[in-house]
Amino acid sequence: MIHSPNAPIGIFDSGVGGLTVLSAIEKALPSENLLYFGDTARVPYGTKSKDTVIRYSKEIYSFLVDKGSKAIVIACNTASSHALEILQKESSIPVLGVVEPGIRAYLNVAKQGKSKPAVIATRSTVKSGSYEKAYKKLNGSGRLFTKACPLFVPMIEENYMEKKAMDLVIHEYLDELIREEITHVILGCTHYPLLLPKLSAMYPTIQFINPAEEVALELKDLLEQKNLRNQQTQGELKVYVSDITDTLSDLQTLFLGEKIDSIERVVLDW
Ligand code: DGL
Repeated sequence: MIHSPNAPIGIFDSGVGGLTVLSAIEKALPSENLLYFGDTARVPYGTKSKDTVIRYSKEIYSFLVDKGSKAIVIACNTASSHALEILQKESSIPVLGVVEPGIRAYLNVAKQGKSKPAVIATRSTVKSGSYEKAYKKLNGSGRLFTKACPLFVPMIEENYMEKKAMDLVIHEYLDELIREEITHVILGCTHYPLLLPKLSAMYPTIQFINPAEEVALELKDLLEQKNLRNQQTQGELKVYVSDITDTLSDLQTLFLGEKIDSIERVVLDW
């Protein structure tokens, strides 16, 4: 199917965390029409099996394609880890994930032979080995250290960022990075950029990398290559979720810094 540049870009995530990626895309590509789907009825994906995450991702992909998307961004690291290759194989439109851009964002700032990288992510992402695979493919040198931080997502969603309990959990997971002499940490989960100021203050010798900006730049390049850039002045955003939960409105503000005017609940045919 041939798409016009006016067609929207479909972005999806397990919930609201992907709004951190949406935010970077809005900044880099203000003229694009964006569709965002947050699977708030089935979040979290980070604790789920590969098969389940692939099934959910395929359903959302089909929904966004039916809405006329000219390209798809899998904003969720867990979904990118398990479903990107499958969706790319089956898709007639470009599908972008967040894992390779995360590695490239690191490689852009790494010092040859001196830097020691790590990725922190959900358990399901770490188990998938997706980041190590991408690191090898992109010729990263030495070892990529990985660490699952499963308590971060629920604590961030509960707005525990400024509580003492958050510091304890961060120390529990990340002090190991100091012992391993890690120099750079890729934030391999949509939620973790919210911890950036805290992490940078707690571990001043480590550079923390949010892949979202690189995702947005790579999306821009891709649309340019394919002559799919929208030339209008201001794009529109449409947000779909699979459940309007009690905390949805607060979470939007937490992740996007603003409330989204119209959110539509859709029940996918699962
Ligand atoms: N969006 C998920 C990710 O980036 C985090 C939340 C979840 O576990 O679903 O991996």
